[in-house]
Amino acid sequence: MKAPPWRVLGFESSCDETGVAIVELDDGHPRLLAQGLHSQIAMHQAYGGVVPELASRDHIRRVVPLTRQVMADAGLAWSDLDAIAYTKGPGLAGALLVGAGVAVALAAAIGKPTLAVHHLEGHLLSPFLSADPPAFPFVCLLVSGGHTQLMAVTGVGRYELLGETIDDAAGEAFDKSAKLLGLPYPGGPHLASLAEAGDPGAFALPRPLLHSGTLDFSFAGLKTAVLTQARKLGAELPVRAADLAASTQAAIVDVLVKKSLMALRDSGLKRLVVAGGVGANQSLRAALNEASRRRGVRVHYPELSLCTDNGAMIALAAAMRHAAGASHAQAPQAFGVKPRWDLAEI
Ligand code: KG4
Ligand code: ZN
Repeated sequence: MKAPPWRVLGFESSCDETGVAIVELDDGHPRLLAQGLHSQIAMHQAYGGVVPELASRDHIRRVVPLTRQVMADAGLAWSDLDAIAYTKGPGLAGALLVGAGVAVALAAAIGKPTLAVHHLEGHLLSPFLSADPPAFPFVCLLVSGGHTQLMAVTGVGRYELLGETIDDAAGEAFDKSAKLLGLPYPGGPHLASLAEAGDPGAFALPRPLLHSGTLDFSFAGLKTAVLTQARKLGAELPVRAADLAASTQAAIVDVLVKKSLMALRDSGLKRLVVAGGVGANQSLRAALNEASRRRGVRVHYPELSLCTDNGAMIALAAAMRHAAGASHAQAPQAFGVKPRWDLAEI
């Protein structure tokens, strides 16, 4: 017999996006009913990075109007919801507390359970909302602003870490290099568009740990190499910026692609899932598609709009955990965040 639809409202507020969304499990299959997102990027740009206190205050301003809008867009009443999910961590403590506070209060008011979600699990599962959803098992390349990890994923909640960055994340490598080139925060997408006009072979930049034989990454040295190159160019930098951007992107993409292929080979898996903000990078997608096609590997990505932080991935992760009988249900009115939280602990 077909199960009745099960609906979860999810809140994301771990960093600089306020995300609210409703996901419905329809006969076990997740479907996005409505979502709202407010990005704080413009607000933080003047400071060159996220200012935590400003982030928390802006989440407070945005979260209730966004929730009303999402409920109206979905055409649902509070009584139509079955659970309220929120990002419990990792992230900025004050920012996380806003989503947690609203979720717990709302759940108490409507008498529904609150479900705590790990932010990275949200990213990792986000391709399940795409037009070409993956199936388990797969290797996941998780590339966000704060994390770079390769995982063997055999089911919901079954994530084996294969390798990760020992210093900067891939997103940080993009952002810090972009800053050196005078591009606005967050630099990843700006560096990517500048790179379109440049020559990726113009400068020989390091590919750290490429031949280490492990699945770990290191990107801190790349940023230093970009700085050295930028200084060497001096007054010539403005006319060579596109070449330097293209060379930087090529170095990052090269390492991500080669290590992903190594992870696929070592694990014997034939499916790759890419998730997180850097997964929006077109050069990375083109290189992965090409390399995978030659090896008979299928690659899955989140929809472009769901690569960076959003509420849909949080509602989705809660829904998939519910479907798998593995929800992180909170005690009624329990109120907690985990600014530092290892995915291996869940
Ligand atoms: O996953 P995400 O929203 O944040 C974290 O959970 O950390 O990822 C944000 C990161 C930033 O570093 C941003 O520069 C990068 O993703 N990013 C990109 C692109 N779009 C976003 N990097 C390279 N190319 C892009 N198109
Ligand atoms: Zn994120």
